[in-house]
Amino acid sequence: MQTESSSLYERIGGAPAVNAMVQAFYSRVLADPSLAPYFKGVAIDKLQRMQTEFFSAALGGPVKYTGRPIIHAHQHLHITLADYQRFVKYLFETLAQYRLSDQECYEVVGRINLYTNEVVSNEVDSID
Ligand code: HEM
Repeated sequence: MQTESSSLYERIGGAPAVNAMVQAFYSRVLADPSLAPYFKGVAIDKLQRMQTEFFSAALGGPVKYTGRPIIHAHQHLHITLADYQRFVKYLFETLAQYRLSDQECYEVVGRINLYTNEVVSNEVDSID
């Protein structure tokens, strides 16, 4: 039986699954021509390490995130809400490939969406 105490991190399959998931997710993100330019000149190895830490911690794993505050890592990038939504769509597609129920996919996306306001630029760029 599913115990209440097992974290989302454990249910996904722990470190090996989260590492593989973050890698697969970033392959999708970087393959998107509207998202790739944000990552120009960025050290992808370090980014993936930080992302893996962040996701592991966000999913309740025994990992401490040691990177910059999310707002500081993103505010200079001027990320639009539309691009944020594409990013989350790839996350959802990646999660769907793992042994997660729909409910668990929504839970992960829900935790990541808590950071929307720290990632998306507040500049109004889509209202005419
Ligand atoms: C809630 C969603 C997101 C989370 C949780 C997240 C998480 C992270 C983390 C943990 C880092 C590493 C910070 C560090 O190096 O100290 C990072 C960096 C970065 N993220 Fe995100 N990210 C999100 C959304 C996005 C989106 C939508 C984009 C662009 C499409 C993006 C582009 C980048 C880039 C380019 C960097 C490197 C910035 C630099 O080194 O100057 N992120 N992100």
